[in-house]
Amino acid sequence: MGEALDIANAIPKNSDITIKGTDDYSEISNSKLIVIAASTGIYLKSRNEMVEAQVEMIKNIGKNIKEKCSSPLTLIVSNPVDVLTYYFQKETNLPRTKVMGIASSLDTSRFRLQLSKSLQIRNSQISDAIVLGEHGDSMVPIFSKVKINGDLGSKRIDPKIKDKVWSEIRDYWIALRNYKSRSQFGIAKNTFDVIEAITKNQEISIPASVMLDGEYEEKDVCMGVPVTINENGISKIQEIDLDQSEQNLFKLSANTIRENIKSI
Ligand code: 2OP
Repeated sequence: MGEALDIANAIPKNSDITIKGTDDYSEISNSKLIVIAASTGIYLKSRNEMVEAQVEMIKNIGKNIKEKCSSPLTLIVSNPVDVLTYYFQKETNLPRTKVMGIASSLDTSRFRLQLSKSLQIRNSQISDAIVLGEHGDSMVPIFSKVKINGDLGSKRIDPKIKDKVWSEIRDYWIALRNYKSRSQFGIAKNTFDVIEAITKNQEISIPASVMLDGEYEEKDVCMGVPVTINENGISKIQEIDLDQSEQNLFKLSANTIRENIKSI
């Protein structure tokens, strides 16, 4: 509610949008798009630190949403995002194409950033650098698809640089937390891009967490995979070719998330 009071002062003078803070779920009745960024507290070392409380929270939010909204699109930002996307989908029974965990696109922004720094090239010279799997330590940066100036560049990247970039993106959030209590702007921008695509019906392709049903040979687990999103939610789960070591790491990541899901 405090955030709403604050943000309301940033409404441009020629705009008629409104912002309202509330703790009454009836205010969201029939919302078409819902973003869940709630947290039961602050975690410092691992996104899984408060997993039980977070799962209880997401189930409760899911129950309330189910009562008030018919078939909304839901973006889940709260952590651990893959586990919460899983439990939210199970609780609400919404079609899996309408429940999206937003985080792998944030990891992807970090991948591009750290690669450009390490290779001393501009961000814009890098394309197709994506991160799949868990939004956590088992995340898998897909080096084999990275293009530099439009050409496949993976083989030209020194393995030592790959390792360095990998650990930088894995631990980026911890580095950030040495200075501030939570990530805000990076995840906000990545979430905004999805909201904009949905509300303006412009297709967007990003990696996002979704319940898999056989894609990438995985079932009954939510994890970051490349998807196409439009006004109806996920219109396509893209099955891209991964090299052998990426496939192995992807499987390990799926198993890690599964264990976290089962730990509840
Ligand atoms: C992040 O990666 C904490 O998941 C959040 O910044």
